[in-house]
Amino acid sequence: MGETDDKSAAPLWGGRFEASPDEAFERLNASIPFDVRLAPHDVRGSIAHAKMLGRQGIVSEQESDELVRGLEAVLGEVEAGEFSWTLADEDVHTAVERRLREVVGGVALKLHTGRSRNDQVALDLHLFVREAADGIRGGVLAAMRALLEVAEANRDVVLPGYTHLQRAQPILLSHHLLAHFWAFERDLRRLEAAREAANRSPLGAAALGGTPHPIDPAFTARELGMQPPVNSLDAVSDRDFALDLLYACSVLGVHLSRMGEEWVLWTSAEFGFAVLDDAYSSGSSIMPQKKNPDAYELMRGKAGRLIGNLNALLITLKGLPLGYSKDLQEDKEPIFDAVDAVVPMLAVLPEMLRTARFDGERMRRAAGGFALATELADYLAARGVPFRDAHHAVGRLVRRCEELSVSLEEVPDDELAAAHPALAEFPRGLLTPEGSVSNKKSGGSTSPGSVEEQLREAGRLLDG
Ligand code: ARG
Repeated sequence: MGETDDKSAAPLWGGRFEASPDEAFERLNASIPFDVRLAPHDVRGSIAHAKMLGRQGIVSEQESDELVRGLEAVLGEVEAGEFSWTLADEDVHTAVERRLREVVGGVALKLHTGRSRNDQVALDLHLFVREAADGIRGGVLAAMRALLEVAEANRDVVLPGYTHLQRAQPILLSHHLLAHFWAFERDLRRLEAAREAANRSPLGAAALGGTPHPIDPAFTARELGMQPPVNSLDAVSDRDFALDLLYACSVLGVHLSRMGEEWVLWTSAEFGFAVLDDAYSSGSSIMPQKKNPDAYELMRGKAGRLIGNLNALLITLKGLPLGYSKDLQEDKEPIFDAVDAVVPMLAVLPEMLRTARFDGERMRRAAGGFALATELADYLAARGVPFRDAHHAVGRLVRRCEELSVSLEEVPDDELAAAHPALAEFPRGLLTPEGSVSNKKSGGSTSPGSVEEQLREAGRLLDG
């Protein structure tokens, strides 16, 4: 699809005007350079409308057939990338109608009966958002599948869980990966909500108050697999469905960003927990040793523009009275930009996860030492020592270990007993990353048994 310099197209609204638009105004006013992306949806909406006009006797059956055939030809051009437009087309709706007229002649002038660009543009955007929500949902599911596979393949790997980015307690790598899985699962719900909100056709609202023509909005809605409009004024004013998508993309973007931040850390020499496959890293133009986690950095970086896009549309909408205002033309680019940010990240993530290698030994080493201190406190508390006292005693022991320059695993028995008499019989097996994770009993914990349950539930979710 490209721009041509054919200036023959006249504005749809030309009758009222003596002079043609100033060129600078035309450039400001035109949405065709970006809304041409809605062309397939615009044509499909028009096909449903043209069929309805024929069924309702608003145009003859033959005229309806001609319109549908012509629109199908235009759709073919759009899909083949052969559809061309000029700035004088102003927007995608005008461009499609102009082309239809070139293809089928004067009958094209009847297509807009009982319709306004206000319900038409709203419909196009509903269709775009519905399709985008489905596409992104598919991408999130693919990422979830990869997380599950990697979690299943790394059942025995332990690493530290962090608070304040300080080593806190050992957890299973599979538990960590599944934490991201469940966050994505909530993203699915948000995307489904956006899809449902988008799945109501505004067609039939016309400019804002309906139309005297005997149209059948329920038919056009059905043709497009949508619900019919309930209130014509709401139908042309509502952009909540677009906000829902932008919100879903923003939260998803924040999830991707948090994961990105972790992988940037994990792949640093300082952590050394994981190595990305060459296919998903880039080098430096000056430092030959560098292998950079660009994709994860971009996942972190794109969250900002996703949140910005949501803000942009919220702010556009907040001052608008009901009914169409040209401000609404500003709704499209943030939506397109959000989709264009999210889709490529989701295209990369699954294979990038599958092909990464983990350094299980290094992770395990980082998960030992003082990250095991809570085990000692919990052991004492289970033997009736008030938890606060237990916490204090183990805190003192940690300080003592620092004085002796030994790790908790190496602390001599007499030091254990000196910290608290009840620690005299402490089972040493608990003072290992594996012992610690296995000792967790609460539902949803990082214990191997609980993680197995999670893996099964995650598998059911993806299969079901
Ligand atoms: N290009 C316009 C938009 O994107 C289409 C609707 C124009 N409607 C109107 N009444 N001027 O919002």
